[in-house]
Formats: sequence, C-alpha cells, structure tokens
Amino acid sequence: MLSGLRGVGKTVLLLAFRANARNAGWPIELFEARPGGDLRAQVAEALPPMVRTVNRHWRNRERARRIGRIAASFARAVQATLTRTGFRLELEPEPGVADSGDLETDLTELLVALGEGAREERVGAALLIDELHEVPPDQLSSLVGAAHRVNQERLPVVVGGAGLPPVGRVLSEARSYAERLFSIRPVGALSERDTRLAFQAPAEDLGVSFTGAALDELVAVSGGYPFFIQSYGKHVWDLADDSPIAEDDVELARPRAYRELVDSFFKPRYDRATPTERRYLHAMAELGDDEVASADVAGRLGHDQPSRVSPQRDGLLTKGLIYAPERGQLAFTVPHMAAYLRQLPERP
Ligand SMILES: Nc1ncnc2c1ncn2[C@@H]1O[C@H](COP(=O)(O)OP(=O)(O)OP(=O)(O)O)[C@@H](O)[C@H]1O
Ligand SMILES: [Mg+2]
Repeated sequence: MLSGLRGVGKTVLLLAFRANARNAGWPIELFEARPGGDLRAQVAEALPPMVRTVNRHWRNRERARRIGRIAASFARAVQATLTRTGFRLELEPEPGVADSGDLETDLTELLVALGEGAREERVGAALLIDELHEVPPDQLSSLVGAAHRVNQERLPVVVGGAGLPPVGRVLSEARSYAERLFSIRPVGALSERDTRLAFQAPAEDLGVSFTGAALDELVAVSGGYPFFIQSYGKHVWDLADDSPIAEDDVELARPRAYRELVDSFFKPRYDRATPTERRYLHAMAELGDDEVASADVAGRLGHDQPSRVSPQRDGLLTKGLIYAPERGQLAFTVPHMAAYLRQLPERP
C-alpha cells in the first residue's frame, strides 16, 4: 500500500505494478476510488478484463469458465452489468457464490475463487485501488476483511493500492489488524542522487548533459518531488539551446516551470477552498512548512477553542487539501503548498 502526498508518483508506480503483473500473465486491474463511490460497482467494472485474461491463459478451462460465472454473480448482486467500452460479458451467474448481496462475503468468495485458480495456474491475481482513502469506511472494512481471508488461506492474491498519508490509519480504523495485513510503504521526494538521475538520464539518452551548477539548482528547486522534476525538466529542456544545459538556462526556465506548477497544482486546490477555509490555510502556512498543531492554527486565527474553526478544518480535510498525520496535527497534502501560500500577494 503506497502512502504519499500529491504528485509523488503513486499512480505511476501502480501503473508499473499493473504492467509487470500483466506481463507475467496475472489477471489484475487498477481503478481509482471516487468520493462516496460504490466499491462493488467499481470492482464489477474491473472484472471483465480480468475474466478475459483468465479465459485467454488458464489451462483449466472449467475453472476459467467458473471465474466468469462468479464474476457475473458478483456484478448481478448490484444489478451492475459487466460492461466496459467496447466489451461486454454475457455470462450466466454461478448461483450461490458471490451473490449474497453482502459485500464482504461476495468479495471474499470472488477473491478466493480467483486465488485458487491462480495458484493452480502458477500465477497471481491482484486488485489495485488508487485513492484508497476515498473508499467509504464500511466498504473499506469489507475489503480488508476479504483481503484477510485470502491471506489466511495463503492464496496468491494481492489487494493493494495507494492513498494520501493517512491511508495507513484509515485502514487500521477499518479493521484493527489491517496494519499487520498490509505493508504500507511511504512514497515521498526522491533522494538527491535519484533526483539528479531523473534529470540526467533521459537527457543523456539524447546526447545532452547538464553542468554541475545547473543540476544543483534543479535539485534544489524541485525538492525532489516527481511532479516538480517533470515540470522543471520540461521547461529547461525546451529553453536550452545547446549542451551542456547551464545555470542560466535553469534561471530562465524557473519562472515558467513555477507558473505551470501554480496553474496546475497549487491554484486549482486553493480555488476549491471557501474564503474562511483559505484563512485557515494561510494560518497553517504562517506556522511553518511541516506539521502544525490544530490548536496553534486556531490560536493564530484568534480563537482559544479549536472547535470554533473545526468546520473550516473539516472542509479542508474533506476536500483533500490537508490531512491529519496524527491526532491534533495537520499538514498539507501538496508539497511546497505553505511556501506558495506565503508568497501570495493577497490574503482573504
Ligand atoms: N517514475 C517516474 N518517471 C517519470 N515521471 C514520473 C515518475 N513518477 C512520477 N512522475 C511524474 O510525477 C507526476 C505525478 O505522478 P503521479 O500522478 O503518479 O503522482 P501521485 O502520487 O499519484 O499524485 P496524486 O496524489 O496527485 O494522484 C507524473 O505525472 C509524472 O510527471
Ligand atoms: Mg495519483
């Protein structure tokens, strides 16, 4: 389970996991949980391509057909039709399996059937859920319960995904044993060495290098965040006339890259906040770049009672602009957001 801030590369990693697993012949799907979404409907939508992989590759034909029928049962329990652009499964359901209507029971039966088949075929199977923190708590609890069962039976099924940093806590709140069941891997800024490599290696492939000073500057301004590396890398590449790319190229590219980050990363999020929520964000930013105590934010806004400003805090949490790394603490979900807010000329 990948846990990290916005723009650190979680989705890119999940896509790489999926590509690798597909190459190994696994039935695997990846989908993104939506706020207030229906997990069963989303899993049902992910099933047709998995069933297709099973049908294509599994030697045990009867087992492959059974997986298709169980998938149809699972989908039928919510009247979800197994359709996806240009692809439709017309299968008879398997009565009595994965059709109880109880999400945990049905998901467990589905994953167990997939796992037993996968074990026999000597492959794995996986369900990856991006933005996992958006799955409503009761549905998440069912998912964790189903994952627990396939784990107990030692079946080669992976339930994985990614989410904003409270994802570990969100999982353990769903089921207390979740922390032992999942391995939660933080994804953050790249190391300095990897940041250099991220700029250098793709350029070198095209016969272009950077001066040492230019690279130092790029490492500093990007802070090692993949989304920032992408933006600074693109603009310095577009502006430089020749190799090696030098410090003055970086100086020219800097404001353009920053403008792009403002337009695509910082501003759209800031715009989503109401005026009172914005005041809350500014108070956080003035307290520093790292975690801040919500009591201190309230104090800065002139309230001794943090509850007076909890509507703003809750609104920002729901909108995904901030998160609570631990009780009573708050932090921005977007790297460098505090610095962005501090340089804004106007305050709401
Ligand atoms: N391995 C990589 N190679 C090249 N670019 C990458 C890599 N990882 C991340 N990036 C860049 O960083 C950007 C953000 O990555 P990604 O969308 O995976 O982040 P995320 O953690 O899923 O963010 P969010 O929480 O906003 O969904 C990508 O669009 C890409 O520009
Ligand atoms: Mg993502």
